[in-house]
Amino acid sequence: MSAQHAAPTHDRVLVVDFGAQYAQLIARRVREARVYSEIVPRTMPLAEMLAKRPKGIIFSGGPASVHVDGAPSIDAAVYDAEVPILGICYGAQLIAQQLGGVVERTGGGEYGRTQLTRLGSSVVLSALPEEQQVWMSHGDAISTAPDGFVVTASSPGAPVAALEDRDRAVYGVQFHPEVVHTERGQEVLRAFLFDVCDCRPTWTNTNIIEEAVAEIRAQVGGEKVICGLSGGVDSSVAAALVHRAIGDQLTCVFVDHGLLRLGEAEQVEETFRRQFHMDLVHVKAADRFLEALSDIREPESKRKIIGETFIRVFEEVASDYSDAGYLVQGTLYPDIVESGGADNATIKSHHNVGGLPDDMKFELVEPLRNLFKDEVRAIGEELGLPEEIVWRQPFPGPGLAVRIIGTITPDRIEMLRQADHIVVEEIRRAGLYREIWQSFAVLPGDVHTVGVMGDGRTYENPIIVRAVTSEDAMTADWARLSHDLLERIASRIINEVAGVNRVAYDITSKPPGTIEWE
Ligand code: XMP
Repeated sequence: MSAQHAAPTHDRVLVVDFGAQYAQLIARRVREARVYSEIVPRTMPLAEMLAKRPKGIIFSGGPASVHVDGAPSIDAAVYDAEVPILGICYGAQLIAQQLGGVVERTGGGEYGRTQLTRLGSSVVLSALPEEQQVWMSHGDAISTAPDGFVVTASSPGAPVAALEDRDRAVYGVQFHPEVVHTERGQEVLRAFLFDVCDCRPTWTNTNIIEEAVAEIRAQVGGEKVICGLSGGVDSSVAAALVHRAIGDQLTCVFVDHGLLRLGEAEQVEETFRRQFHMDLVHVKAADRFLEALSDIREPESKRKIIGETFIRVFEEVASDYSDAGYLVQGTLYPDIVESGGADNATIKSHHNVGGLPDDMKFELVEPLRNLFKDEVRAIGEELGLPEEIVWRQPFPGPGLAVRIIGTITPDRIEMLRQADHIVVEEIRRAGLYREIWQSFAVLPGDVHTVGVMGDGRTYENPIIVRAVTSEDAMTADWARLSHDLLERIASRIINEVAGVNRVAYDITSKPPGTIEWE
């Protein structure tokens, strides 16, 4: 599904990015309502936006004040385009300012949960009670609505917390309907999408799959396609989707570097070869990677060596498929939309081919390029991928190599793999696997600690347990695991993993720490 051709049969809503982190969240919420949404930079010419034939346009929030020089804006002709508009936070202030209302610096602003009071009748607030909690985050506030608008809600710090001009179908809300702290936020978005824009809720998993399949077939025709399969969510769903489209024309190459978690390689075999009957090349290259990594302890050197070896191995296998014209990539929508600051909100093409040599000329097939991660997971489930793959926590490409501090040996890999398996198993049993972003074990290979076991002194390795919560890995917090759970993990690791006599829990957030130890 290339961006240009995405979903021609779907109603489309544009989310104009005014530079906060909220644009992606708004786009996701719209899709949760089964309406296709696309994020566009606010610098996109209006004609280009309208050429996408949107049924509605949402202005996102943003960090700027409408009063600063060069504040992000939009061509005011948008208000005459006869496309319904919903402005959120900064977007609402921009509407007010451009149409002749007044936006003032209030001094206090509102940050966090705020009580919203409805005033009179409203189209987009119709499902809401008189009073409710909403999430606010603003310094400026609209004090006077433009002519033609009615004020439909207020809050202690925002006399105009919602406004609308039904004739022009222009709506604004100072609060953030897209965040979960706004109790009935999704209903506001739904009212805009269905009652104002008259959108049809056709963006369903079944439709997404059918259209992706049609598009892949149209792109590759009868040619052969290869796919690097890692066992992670994205490459697995991409492979399953392409396989659904073209069956035996697809060959998946699974480079097993010997640094995977317990049972992971077997799971890839089981799923793709036995369940899906895919043409799967399982390259067992552990020895080659180990050899290349011998004596290496510096994290970036490990990454570089693993990356290079990976490419060499992939290249060797791919050369046997020189008749293949296409390479599958599991690129996701957030990878291609850069939702940066207000003034660098550009869409970049992110071809994450990771250093494949120039003479390997593949055209890319990116069946997930319009999808968010939660959509990818939903599609994976629908395609019949096992829960373990669809919901797998992120795992770094260099695998266990960056979780063994010091040099990498087969014994250390084995020790870490066993300990890691216990961490994950206990987290799963506690029902926490999905809500925790990553949970794993780290082996400081050169560190030995003194302990007692039975009557004897031990001098063995410690294991560090790491579990973090996060939205996107950019920041993370250590997970507040219960003491009972930590105790179970610790005692099982010490009892079951030979060579470990101590367990520590890492309570560092990111920043200042990183999620991985290396
Ligand atoms: P850090 O440790 O920087 O990690 O907080 C952020 C996220 O990226 C993953 N990670 C990697 N992924 N190759 C990858 O494919 C790598 O070299 C790599 N290093 C870290 C990490 O697991 C976390 O999800």
